[in-house]
Amino acid sequence: MTRHFLRDDDLTQAEQLEILDLAVELKKDRYAVKPLAGPQTVAVIFDKSSTRTRVSFAVGIADLGGSPLIISTANSQLGGKETPGDTARVLERMVSAIVWRTYAQSGLEQMALGTTVPVVNALSDDFHPCQLLADLLTIREHRGTLKGLTVTFLGDGASNMAQSYLLAGAVAGMNVRIASPIAYAPAPEVVADATAVAAANGGSVALFTDPVDAVSGVDVVVTDTWVSMGKEDEKAERIATFGAYTVDTALMAHAKDDALFLHCLPADRGYEVAAEVIDGEQSVIWDEAENRLHAQKALMVWLLERA
Ligand code: CP
Ligand code: NVA
Repeated sequence: MTRHFLRDDDLTQAEQLEILDLAVELKKDRYAVKPLAGPQTVAVIFDKSSTRTRVSFAVGIADLGGSPLIISTANSQLGGKETPGDTARVLERMVSAIVWRTYAQSGLEQMALGTTVPVVNALSDDFHPCQLLADLLTIREHRGTLKGLTVTFLGDGASNMAQSYLLAGAVAGMNVRIASPIAYAPAPEVVADATAVAAANGGSVALFTDPVDAVSGVDVVVTDTWVSMGKEDEKAERIATFGAYTVDTALMAHAKDDALFLHCLPADRGYEVAAEVIDGEQSVIWDEAENRLHAQKALMVWLLERA
């Protein structure tokens, strides 16, 4: 049966590990496998802006022997005249997989429903699971393991990154902490799902409002923009609300001495993170950005083997 990757808990812990292990192999030899040789085409659709996702999918598909077809919804029928379901029925006749960056998670679910090719979430309002594969790969490269590590995400707890940390960290058996103002806490259903997945995998989930309590003694500190794509109208209100959650040197001092700092980028230095932290020694953001390529290639190989 066709497998899709719409949210982080679409993978079991064993499957997540398989993909991360394959990413390590592909990072050693970028051209080791060519499942798309032919070449087969992968459609990569964007309703929102992108640098890393666009480039890493385009380069990754080419590395695997395939041909990327980058589509901007502004110039397509999707989102205007045509439903995700009808678009998928057309694309599946011509492409080997569909990668889509969009707003509503429900659009991805409609796209995946009844489609014979894998559908991959390249970021929605709710989740950013491809980024999390790259983040987990990066953390594992620097710490040797994931299980048992404690990671804190600070800022917008209802954002795609926070909610993906909850689910992907839970699958990995990590202890995931989210620190946010109460009004920006993660969706209760995502917290419930992550709590159940964490319990089954030896991890845990905890919500905080106090940033110092949340980073106390942790292995990994993560943040992201306070103004995600689609939230631009709320910028002033968000900046006023999130001020206490800036990751600066003083806050990092409460984490372990060798704690890692991650940020999916793009970053607003001076807002969610101080320049001294994101550009400092504990930051692994460039490895994290590069790992988008290796992790997504591994994901595509894995999904295509099951398609
Ligand atoms: N991190 C990330 O997804 O970056 P882009 O928006 O540039 O793709
Ligand atoms: N949370 C951010 C991630 C960007 C890669 C956004 O959705 O804009």
